[in-house]
Amino acid sequence: MSRKSRAKHKKAVKLVAYSFPKLPVTEQYRFICYNILFSSVDREIKSIVVTSPEPSDGKSTTAANLAIVLAQQGKATLLVDTDLRKPSIHYTFNISNMNGLTNAITRAIYLDTAIVKTFIPNLDILPSGPIPPNPSELLNSKSMATIMDDLKSKYEYVIFDAPPVLAVSDPQIMAAKSDGVVMVVNSGKTRKDSALKAKKILENVKGNILGVVLNGEKTSENMYYYQ
Ligand SMILES: Nc1ncnc2c1ncn2[C@@H]1O[C@H](COP(=O)(O)OP(=O)(O)O)[C@@H](O)[C@H]1O
Ligand SMILES: [Mg+2]
Repeated sequence: MSRKSRAKHKKAVKLVAYSFPKLPVTEQYRFICYNILFSSVDREIKSIVVTSPEPSDGKSTTAANLAIVLAQQGKATLLVDTDLRKPSIHYTFNISNMNGLTNAITRAIYLDTAIVKTFIPNLDILPSGPIPPNPSELLNSKSMATIMDDLKSKYEYVIFDAPPVLAVSDPQIMAAKSDGVVMVVNSGKTRKDSALKAKKILENVKGNILGVVLNGEKTSENMYYYQ
């Protein structure tokens, strides 16, 4: 795919925190960021999974913008695409997805060679790599656990963009292995019972839910966060 067509890809999400630092929505991302920084006082929170009950709730948008505001606070931040079924980070940042997490898990390449610096200072990204037939198996592997430890030692914050909780077990795997979980719910479409079901599933695997982001489909201003 050419650079131009990648840039226009419909799966690319908007990096409002970078483009519009003064918008209320960016303030809200910063607010979530401060909550994470402060919740790190009692318990070290370095790796955070961003998930939601269903597809298209705004997980990738939230993960990317959260990673940007953390980077803008001077924190060495890595955004990792662990949505191995519908990856999108490579579209958002307009990079190749030939080498990424999946190749590193299977040890086809060194992890470092798959990490890409972005135009945003302090923000690196690790794209998903080619879509594998067995995403859950890869995420549950010893190799992935080693990679997660390695990334936590290299970065101050590692943000994992994950698939939806009610669709697949991958987010549960990631939640169990990470320090915290941010759950996105969509004000326009997430039903209360779906949100509660997703929360329960994450709690069952001892996921440390840091908070919930209410992402509005139409007006992005109405996104907020509570503990
Ligand atoms: N707050 C928002 N305001 C406007 N559009 C949004 C907002 N959040 C997400 N979107 C758009 O909705 C679509 C799905 O968002 P995405 O973050 O990719 O969801 P998910 O990762 O949960 O599938 C994308 O096209 C994205 O640009
Ligand atoms: Mg996504």
